[in-house]
Amino acid sequence: MELAGKKILLGVSGGIAVYKSCELLRLLQKKGATVRVCMTDAATEFVAPLTFASLSKCPVYLKSGAVEARPFQHIDFPRWADLYLVVPATANVIGKFACGIADDPVSLCFMSCTCPRVIAPAMNVAMYNSPAVKRNLEILRGFEDTVVLESPAGELACGEVGRGRLMEPAEIVAYLETRDNEGECLPLATVSAGCTKVGEPAEPSATPSSGGHPRNAPEPPAVPVAADVAPTQDATLPGHGKKVVLTAGRTEEAIDPVRYISNRSSGKTAVALASVFYANGFEVEVVAGPMEAAFPGGVKVTRVQSAREMHDAVMSRLESADAVVHCAAVADYRPAHAADEKIKDSRSQLVLELVPNPNILRDCTAARASRTADAAGDARRQVIVGFALETDHFEEHAAEKLEKSGADALLLNAPVASDSGFGRDSVRFALVEKGKPVPPLAMGEKVDLAETILNFCLERLNA
Ligand SMILES: Cc1cc2nc3c(=O)[nH]c(=O)nc-3n(C[C@H](O)[C@H](O)[C@H](O)COP(=O)(O)O)c2cc1C
Repeated sequence: MELAGKKILLGVSGGIAVYKSCELLRLLQKKGATVRVCMTDAATEFVAPLTFASLSKCPVYLKSGAVEARPFQHIDFPRWADLYLVVPATANVIGKFACGIADDPVSLCFMSCTCPRVIAPAMNVAMYNSPAVKRNLEILRGFEDTVVLESPAGELACGEVGRGRLMEPAEIVAYLETRDNEGECLPLATVSAGCTKVGEPAEPSATPSSGGHPRNAPEPPAVPVAADVAPTQDATLPGHGKKVVLTAGRTEEAIDPVRYISNRSSGKTAVALASVFYANGFEVEVVAGPMEAAFPGGVKVTRVQSAREMHDAVMSRLESADAVVHCAAVADYRPAHAADEKIKDSRSQLVLELVPNPNILRDCTAARASRTADAAGDARRQVIVGFALETDHFEEHAAEKLEKSGADALLLNAPVASDSGFGRDSVRFALVEKGKPVPPLAMGEKVDLAETILNFCLERLNA
């Protein structure tokens, strides 16, 4: 979603993270959005409404009506808005939203608004894991036009560690920018590798193409991407001054001008990775094959179609990268010959000869090794992480692939379980590190996976 020109109502409820809503308000304004604020009484105990009124240049809607309350603010404010954001959302207001209670400005606006709603919960880990909050969040996820953002794990304001943190304001903004213009919210990520299938685009184009494609092959579909902005300059962020190159989406290997071999990757894992790295101060450059999910603004995206194009694009970006994360579902094989003309339907048996594609991960680690050798060990430290989708003998296969690849770690994932897979929010994964035993696969969510890789990269880069 292009945030410039959008009218955003910010609902603030009473948690310790209220101060972060001020930062969020400023970031939204910097993107060109107009923001109005409503607050619960408890929220005003943490940050004075005057702060929000001054920042938003508009009276805040309060229960007590302390700042220029008008009689129909509970209708006017939500009707005015293109989007209602509740940041932070306390356990208390989440319960009210779920149960239809509307006795304060934030819950009243939630009930009376007709625009899409995005809720960012923030609370202590015990509250977050309580059956009531879990149930209420589940109810909200089922509401039309309502999205519940992740509450990442980490150190909480109370000193405890666990889930329940407020998603960082920059990450919320990055996430909003992945919404399409109709307001539909794209989930940050699921899994990104899959089985091979033969596809046929509905409307083949006659535009000539190059780089391993037959004449008349369709141009790569546009990777959705929000407007480019400069990488964050916040020097306090751990990734400040560092660059990550990510591969994303799937590849399409031409059979003829209208048919190709590909897989089911949606690119959503890469979007989660891009968002998390970007929110932590990294410059993010993505080499993306065809995919549906959109990247947040600020992320530089180069479009490719085939595995060979992806290979070349990645290899030419290696030198400047501090970290390289190979998330794309690259086809292992391509047709030996792509026909120049559409293959005619003769209803007789057709045999496709397949040849192996270049191994992008291995070529990256080989390039790193030769750079290190050339520079007599003085080469800049570069972290390389691959992905491995396995369906059986996880430990053996992952350990073998890691050894052969020369990568520092492999994100082993298993999307075949009944509760994890394509298009789902949860995935079974484990980060397999060089020289360490393969940890057991654990169920986690999209953002957990991205944060696991981020933390590994930061650890290695700062070692
Ligand atoms: C110092 C302090 C911090 C709090 N932080 C949170 C929090 O992060 N999340 C939460 O759900 N409740 C938190 N609470 C409890 C809420 O303030 C309390 O449930 C309040 O009734 C919420 O009101 P509201 O939902 O109308 O804003 C905190 C309370 C205190 C005293």
